[in-house]
Amino acid sequence: MASLAYSLFILSLFTFTLLNPVCSELDEYLFSFGDGLYDAGNAKFIYPDKYLPSYHHPYGTTFFDYPTGRFSDGRTVVDFVAENVSLPRIPPFKNKEANFTYGANFASEGATASDSNPLIDFRSQIRDFGELKLEWAVQLVNVTELARRLKKAVYLISFGADDYLNYEIPSEASREQLESIVDVVLGNISDRIKELYDFGARKFVVENVAPLGLIPFIKQTSDNSTLFYELASLHAMKLPQILEKIQDGYLFPEFNYTVFNYFGIIKEIIDAPGEHGFKYGDIACCGNSTYRGQACGFLDYEFCVCGNKTEYLFFDGTHNTDAANNLLAELMWDKESGFISPYGVKDFFPSPTTIQTLLTEATALG
Ligand SMILES: *[C@@H]1O[C@H](CO)[C@@H](O)[C@H](O)[C@H]1NC(C)=O
Ligand SMILES: *[C@@H]1O[C@H](CO)[C@@H](O)[C@H](O)[C@H]1NC(C)=O
Ligand SMILES: *[C@@H]1O[C@H](CO)[C@@H](O)[C@H](O)[C@H]1NC(C)=O
Ligand SMILES: *[C@@H]1O[C@H](CO)[C@@H](O)[C@H](O)[C@H]1NC(C)=O
Ligand SMILES: *[C@@H]1O[C@H](CO)[C@@H](O)[C@H](O)[C@H]1NC(C)=O
Ligand SMILES: *[C@@H]1O[C@H](CO)[C@@H](O)[C@H](O)[C@H]1NC(C)=O
Ligand SMILES: *[C@@H]1O[C@H](CO)[C@@H](O)[C@H](O)[C@H]1NC(C)=O
Ligand SMILES: *[C@@H]1O[C@H](CO)[C@@H](O)[C@H](O)[C@H]1NC(C)=O
Repeated sequence: MASLAYSLFILSLFTFTLLNPVCSELDEYLFSFGDGLYDAGNAKFIYPDKYLPSYHHPYGTTFFDYPTGRFSDGRTVVDFVAENVSLPRIPPFKNKEANFTYGANFASEGATASDSNPLIDFRSQIRDFGELKLEWAVQLVNVTELARRLKKAVYLISFGADDYLNYEIPSEASREQLESIVDVVLGNISDRIKELYDFGARKFVVENVAPLGLIPFIKQTSDNSTLFYELASLHAMKLPQILEKIQDGYLFPEFNYTVFNYFGIIKEIIDAPGEHGFKYGDIACCGNSTYRGQACGFLDYEFCVCGNKTEYLFFDGTHNTDAANNLLAELMWDKESGFISPYGVKDFFPSPTTIQTLLTEATALG
């Protein structure tokens, strides 16, 4: 009997979904802040006169057939997350002609968490978010609805790598020196996240940084890649602690977060690419010299491009292929993967999955 009642409930839900057009309207929102891993093409609008490799061959060739400003042969992790919740592609905020109904992408290649470049750093991305909030306020009129959407939205954050890559680290830096560098970066990430909270954001998915000493760019250019590895490893260790601290403080009662262990999965793929469906984890698909660590898409340097891009973790010296980003997004989706904690991205998008799950169960019940 219980299962009959349940079936009827599912049936009514199903009918309701089909008959009520309002219900089929998307009510999901996604924002992203960060560096080149998440960038969807803001740079063209920031530097209209500059040569930007990400707008040239071979970027974009696998999925879009043309370069889009993404630092990949195809999609970024943000694109895959949006796809999975049936959202359209989240446009770069600097593109004033885009439609920001479901969110915006503020990320930009080279962006740091601590203040360095006032055009692209985390602080400036938050200024842009403030602008978008005003635009939403004007469109929606209703402040309750504005607050509801900001609260319902998921905020993807990828910062830190460029802070470390830009840093002039003394080659024999002590552990204490490295820790203080990491603390400045994390202190800024923490402060910016609190600002986002004050704007109305609640659900944060924060990824740590790649094992920087092992990426093709650093292996090719650094005299002491161990330093970069150490910084990234300290960052990965301390990031959950600073987020937990925000949650424990009484100032941010609705703060919610999860940490994606990007460091851990990238290291694992580099160490054993075959176990994750790749052939090469140590050398990029596109670039120059031993590791193809630099110059992908450049005009003034020669570079080569691999044949089968799905065999590679890295597309260029610092960014991933479409295939790798697909895998990363899958691992972010569900906390059962072991690489995201305490929640999976799907837990922050409860409504579409809930309906999906119910419909699947209804089908199973016949
Ligand atoms: C933006 O997209 C939304 C949702 O698809 C749509 O309702 C709205 O009309 C669009 N706005 C403009 C200006 O095209
Ligand atoms: C404002 O939005 C809320 C839903 O978030 C809705 O319940 C309320 O009726 C709206 N108010 C007006 C005046 O439209
Ligand atoms: C943020 O970074 C700046 C350097 O750009 C630094 O001076 C400041 O102390 C950092 N903030 C925190 C809270 O660590
Ligand atoms: C490289 O950095 C590590 C970590 O700080 C340090 O222990 C080591 O001495 C450095 N090696 C060289 C060759 O400078
Ligand atoms: C590779 O490209 C970089 C520019 O990104 C250049 O500085 C370097 O000299 C190039 N290396 C070789 C071996 O061509
Ligand atoms: C490219 O590599 C992938 C993964 O190794 C493989 O499944 C696929 O068949 C390859 N495609 C071609 C055209 O060789
Ligand atoms: C999308 O969702 C499905 C099931 O809901 C999941 O199996 C898959 O890993 C997700 N993919 C991505 C890229 O998030
Ligand atoms: C955080 O999100 C999870 C998953 O949606 C939810 O179960 C939990 O109650 C939320 N916690 C807070 C403090 O809002």
